[in-house]
Amino acid sequence: MAKLEDATLAQLFTEARSHNGWNPEPLPESVLRDLYALTKFGPTAANSTPARFYFLTSPEAKERLAKLSSGSNGPKILQAPCTVIVGYDLDFPETLPKLFPHAPGAKDWFPDPVAKEWGALRNSSLQGGYFMIAARALGLDVGPMSGFDNAAVDAEFFAGTNIKSNFIVSIGHGTTEGLFPRNPRLDFDEAAKIL
Ligand SMILES: Cc1cc2nc3c(=O)[nH]c(=O)nc-3n(C[C@H](O)[C@H](O)[C@H](O)COP(=O)(O)O)c2cc1C
Repeated sequence: MAKLEDATLAQLFTEARSHNGWNPEPLPESVLRDLYALTKFGPTAANSTPARFYFLTSPEAKERLAKLSSGSNGPKILQAPCTVIVGYDLDFPETLPKLFPHAPGAKDWFPDPVAKEWGALRNSSLQGGYFMIAARALGLDVGPMSGFDNAAVDAEFFAGTNIKSNFIVSIGHGTTEGLFPRNPRLDFDEAAKIL
């Protein structure tokens, strides 16, 4: 594999920001589908892919989410053309016969509900990360948020399922509105060790 160009790395990482202001112009459905088509290939344990993505694009759907969010998140959700609820499905073991067919017993690997929830949360968080990098790869900006009432969002959007909300992320073309200066990151020696 070849190293990506610096400009590509800048678009994905070093120049990419978490956005608060948005151009409200709608995104074509094809872009949302392209985004999932990349995201789904990110690795997860036993290929379990427990994340579920609800793309809220209508004013009504965004209003239902905005009223359950906190701080300044509500207006941001309403302004963005799309805000995605990244959830995790606690029934993910049911899909393992399709997703991990060479291990027919895989769906029985999660008898412990705590381990199952950890697995769903861990792997859906990974998928949420893949989703954000995929969005940037497709030329979109992202604005992730965890400031919302998870239990209320679960009741509002996931009633009758075993899906739970993880975090939400607005996608679209960001503006500089509400964009604070880039904050520092930990240096290598503060965050990492080579053993
Ligand atoms: C899981 C997650 C939850 C976040 N929750 C919120 C939030 O509720 N409200 C908000 O304004 N920003 C939220 N952020 C944005 C972070 O503050 C932002 O990504 C971080 O400061 C890095 O900013 P930068 O990407 O512009 O460097 C969240 C980010 C992540 C990944």
